[in-house]
Amino acid sequence: MQLNEAQLEQFDREGYLFLPDLFEAEEVDLLNREAHRIFAMDREEVFREKDGKTARTAFAAQNYNETFRRLGRHPRLLDPVRQLLDGDVYMHQFKVNAKAAFNGDVWQWHQDYGTWSRDDQMPEPRAMNIALFVDDVTEFNGALMFIPRSHKGGVINAGHDLKTTSYPLWTIDDDTITRLVDEGGIIAPKGKAGSVVLFHSNLVHGSPSNMSPFDRTIVYLSLCHIDNHIRRFKRPEWVAHRDFTPLENLDDDCLRTIENAAAE
Ligand code: SIN
Ligand code: MN
Repeated sequence: MQLNEAQLEQFDREGYLFLPDLFEAEEVDLLNREAHRIFAMDREEVFREKDGKTARTAFAAQNYNETFRRLGRHPRLLDPVRQLLDGDVYMHQFKVNAKAAFNGDVWQWHQDYGTWSRDDQMPEPRAMNIALFVDDVTEFNGALMFIPRSHKGGVINAGHDLKTTSYPLWTIDDDTITRLVDEGGIIAPKGKAGSVVLFHSNLVHGSPSNMSPFDRTIVYLSLCHIDNHIRRFKRPEWVAHRDFTPLENLDDDCLRTIENAAAE
């Protein structure tokens, strides 16, 4: 799958691109089932909300679950990112974010490259996210919010927030957010499960808590150009990966053939 000129231009200008309905119901149902199986596991990679029970983020599921291993090599996700980053990519981080009904907590405003640069010494913002909705995302269930064009200003000053949620994050102060929103507004891509959103690693984003009765599971592949791999190994390997091998595509139907593979 290749992005067209208009899509490339929109990504460069706005910092994100929304691709509705890229995966089919059968594929998404499988991912949804597997995500909940992982959330129920007692593993260090599965972070909980402050209640100590509700799953918040499952890291590195591509390393211990066959369905997510395949998703991490899916051509519909990897090809557009290789095109935008202009070359081979490796997996810097892989997250299944639950944002569970009633209990899914806020993600404060931040830039992902802010963390990758400060914590992991990734040399340049030559890395980005591609996110797949595994539930419908609506105005009610804690949609991801972007400040369009905020990726154009480089890394913004941030404070290390260790208090708000169960997850440490380099977050941006209210005055800066007010200024950026004056300039770019806020948008929240919404759509059906199976939709995909790509966003620049310097795009400022966050999400409110989920007080609806609807889960909002989203899978994030954070992909980095192989020349731009991280230089510092401060965070656990399952948070910031250290395998810089270029990812190779599986076939486009790799999520459909999985039951057959499991039976072999
Ligand atoms: C993130 O920014 O890393 C996660 C935000 C979300 O899933 O709402
Ligand atoms: Mn983020």
